[in-house]
Amino acid sequence: MLIDFSEKNLPQVEKEMLEYIEKNTLSNSLKESMSYSVTAGGKRLRPLIVLAVADAFQQKLTTPFYQVAASLEMVHTYSLIHDDLPAMDNDDLRRGKPTNHKIYGEALAILAGDGLLTLAFQLLSEVNLASTEKLLLLQLLTKASGTSGMVSGQVGDTEAEGKVVSLAELQQIHSEKTGALLTYAFMAGGILAQQTPEVLDILQRLGEHIGLAFQIRDDLLDVIGTTEDLGKNVHQDQKLAKSTYPNLLGLNGAKEALKNELKTAEKVIQTLASEPNFNGSVLNEIVALLKLEEV
Ligand code: IPE
Ligand code: IPE
Ligand code: MG
Ligand code: MG
Ligand code: MG
Repeated sequence: MLIDFSEKNLPQVEKEMLEYIEKNTLSNSLKESMSYSVTAGGKRLRPLIVLAVADAFQQKLTTPFYQVAASLEMVHTYSLIHDDLPAMDNDDLRRGKPTNHKIYGEALAILAGDGLLTLAFQLLSEVNLASTEKLLLLQLLTKASGTSGMVSGQVGDTEAEGKVVSLAELQQIHSEKTGALLTYAFMAGGILAQQTPEVLDILQRLGEHIGLAFQIRDDLLDVIGTTEDLGKNVHQDQKLAKSTYPNLLGLNGAKEALKNELKTAEKVIQTLASEPNFNGSVLNEIVALLKLEEV
């Protein structure tokens, strides 16, 4: 079960992040600011996916697996600190707490983001894995985080404020800003489980659908969710005139698009069923978690 799986494995991911920050950060205020955002909570979806994919292929989860998952969560947490800055989305609540810059000021928040980003790659480079595997993970995480992934998507997101973009353009922004890191999560799990290029292609496809679904869901929840449930202020997208699925397709159109992406994701998981030693039950539960049937 997903709950048991999360309870069993996610504390180890947080431990790896905190210990690594503690050991490798010289400035105390920087250490405090980075640890603040890392321990503020969050759903830990990306590390969960890394570990769930590896587990689905019957891998024993050992320290290197948790460190790969931790390095991804560090990149994600950095992206949130910067996303919340006044120059970007200007948010003051994140993971149920004041945003990093509200507590530590903008300069330290920017530097905490820089610190988490670089430390993530330092950690990944030191993980005890075969060098070919490690190099592939380093290349894929660099691409997913940077100018061909998340950073580029954040630029696209900012430039699309106040504009009407086409559905294809919006999909592209979502796939860069959110899909890239989620796709990496699926592929990293597959790489850790030493899967074939064919299986990695399937995991990539799965990640792309989950990635798009996740941002559609995030944009829907900004309209119909509550600050209490989400731990971040709602109705922020409208304030900044963001380009989103609900804006472009209406609430029902966006809900429909979310359902379609998740249905496709379930089908992709089914195609893995013929792989030896594959058990997709936790992955299916993750997909189910992203459904918004009740709203
Ligand atoms: C928020 O990500 C940013 C998006 C990509 C939509 P999450 O919703 O995964 O944030 P946390 O990690 O749970 O706080
Ligand atoms: C953020 O998308 C995507 C990132 C790469 C951080 P949003 O700006 O919609 O995320 P939230 O709603 O602030 O979490
Ligand atoms: Mg944003
Ligand atoms: Mg934001
Ligand atoms: Mg959002």
